[in-house]
Amino acid sequence: MDLNKVFKNNDQWIKEKLALDPNFFSDLGKGQSPELLFIGCSDSRVSAEELMGLGPGDVFVHRNIANMVISIDLNAMSVVNYAVNFLKVNHVIVCGHYECGGVKAAMQSADLGILNPWLRNIRDVYRIHKNELNSISDEDKKYERLVELNVKEQCVNLIKTAAVQKAYRDRGLQVHGWVFDVHTGKLIDLKIDFEKYLKDIMEIYHLD
Ligand code: CO
Repeated sequence: MDLNKVFKNNDQWIKEKLALDPNFFSDLGKGQSPELLFIGCSDSRVSAEELMGLGPGDVFVHRNIANMVISIDLNAMSVVNYAVNFLKVNHVIVCGHYECGGVKAAMQSADLGILNPWLRNIRDVYRIHKNELNSISDEDKKYERLVELNVKEQCVNLIKTAAVQKAYRDRGLQVHGWVFDVHTGKLIDLKIDFEKYLKDIMEIYHLD
């Protein structure tokens, strides 16, 4: 790819934005108050704002391999705490996607070096849901279901944090699990019953 093209694209983008709103960038420079925190996969096809039809200033974004929310990941935990406690987002979204290379890699018997401990968290999702997953004979369907269950378990991981528990109690923060279907472009709401999971796990994970 010719990187000069990127800068030309940028010039064009500035022109388009200013044509629609002459104050676009001066407003953008004043600060941000996004209502959404989007936690997605680093996969190049999962373009957070674009697939939602949103733009600069609308979404606080964190992306990593296989959209994981891991309790000792200082990066993800900093993002969650900052977005929830300071930006006061109203919705936290975990968005997985079909054809996720991270989820596929987690299910292969291969030593992937530094990725091993990261992907082990997905193997844990498989272990928790082993009965359901092993009952699916079609390999593609099984991977798709694992993508969905991984999203669900990362939502549960969010509920385990003090920031989310407190924001739910104080101002009704909601956690959502979505999947982006790369085959069709469709964004699918898994309709995770956030309040049910909250109730289920609070006995053990209650912090605040
Ligand atoms: Co992925």
